[in-house]
Amino acid sequence: MTTRTKILGTGSFVPEKVLTNKDLETMIDTSDEWITTRTGIKERHIAQDGENNSDLAVKAARAALEMAQVEPEELDLIIVGTLTPDMPMPSVACLVQHALGARKAGAMDVSATCSGFLYSLSVADKFVRCSPDMKILVIGSEVLSRRTNWQDRTTCVLFADGAGAAVVSGSQGDEGIVSTHLHADGSLWELLTIRGHGTAYPLDGKKGCQYIEMQGRDVFKHAVKALESVAFEAVDASGWTMEELDLLIAHQANIRILEHLRERLSLPKDKVFINIHKYGNTSAASIPIALDEANRQGRLRPGDKLLMISFGGGFTWAGVTVKW
Ligand code: UT7
Repeated sequence: MTTRTKILGTGSFVPEKVLTNKDLETMIDTSDEWITTRTGIKERHIAQDGENNSDLAVKAARAALEMAQVEPEELDLIIVGTLTPDMPMPSVACLVQHALGARKAGAMDVSATCSGFLYSLSVADKFVRCSPDMKILVIGSEVLSRRTNWQDRTTCVLFADGAGAAVVSGSQGDEGIVSTHLHADGSLWELLTIRGHGTAYPLDGKKGCQYIEMQGRDVFKHAVKALESVAFEAVDASGWTMEELDLLIAHQANIRILEHLRERLSLPKDKVFINIHKYGNTSAASIPIALDEANRQGRLRPGDKLLMISFGGGFTWAGVTVKW
């Protein structure tokens, strides 16, 4: 029996402060009706001053470790998928390693935008397949509110803050990660980018460049195609059919993308997990937050076939299948 990478526990955390569509109506020229029908978002969570990416990541991590019954000292590696680190150096993973007291763990961030968690989980999977005793903490964590131009109604209604985490290790049974699929197309980077604070765009660069810039309609078209394609690729590679799938957790970017996917994959409503109305688009945190909610709600039973798919700036997209 080959080793599979089993998810031992999940956790998530979102900041206490809630920003509703009604609140946004008082800030910019928008409406609850537009945001709800065009995106599916009703409210989102926003970090308070002084509440940083690593703080959210640590809280999500503690919940996942508790469920997994793994002590921080047992961790061998911490991987954080994020595009909004506390600072360029050190990584969020190092700050998490210190805060948890995970003394023997290595730590690194993975930069793959909204696919950050699935990319990180895929990296963890390869480590565990080589060294089944390894215990790895995988996190997706973002504070997008500080990279959002609050005057730009085309983006500020979408993005928000939060973190999700999973603890993984080797299993000799057939439960665990079955297949991982990573993709990228850097030729389209300008459709979704944050230029500022990168070394090609100094801090005194053009106004607004520290914020998310997105050509939403173009991103939408690429997202639906890539997500559909990677969904079939991952399910086929796992030797499954789409009908056998028990749950789809897709990146929560837009309810219309999720509904389109559900139709294209011929899945019934109850097999597509949706929480975008509560959290907005939390980029790398979106899938692990959804995974933790699904897990804690009892939506995943032993033996269930789970597909997770993501799409984001870069472009990057990914698919991971798990036998729960
Ligand atoms: O996480 C990474 C992946 N990201 C995504 O997958 C996001 C993909 N894109 C989208 O989800 C959608 O394109 C958006 C939600 C960003 C935009 O929805 P849309 O249906 O594509 O709208 P649009 O950009 O075509 O804009 C339609 C209209 C425009 O007005 P005009 O030019 O028709 O008069 C916009 O100015 O809606 C207007 N608009 C708004 N109106 C009220 C744009 N944002 C807003 C707003 N409130 N917040």
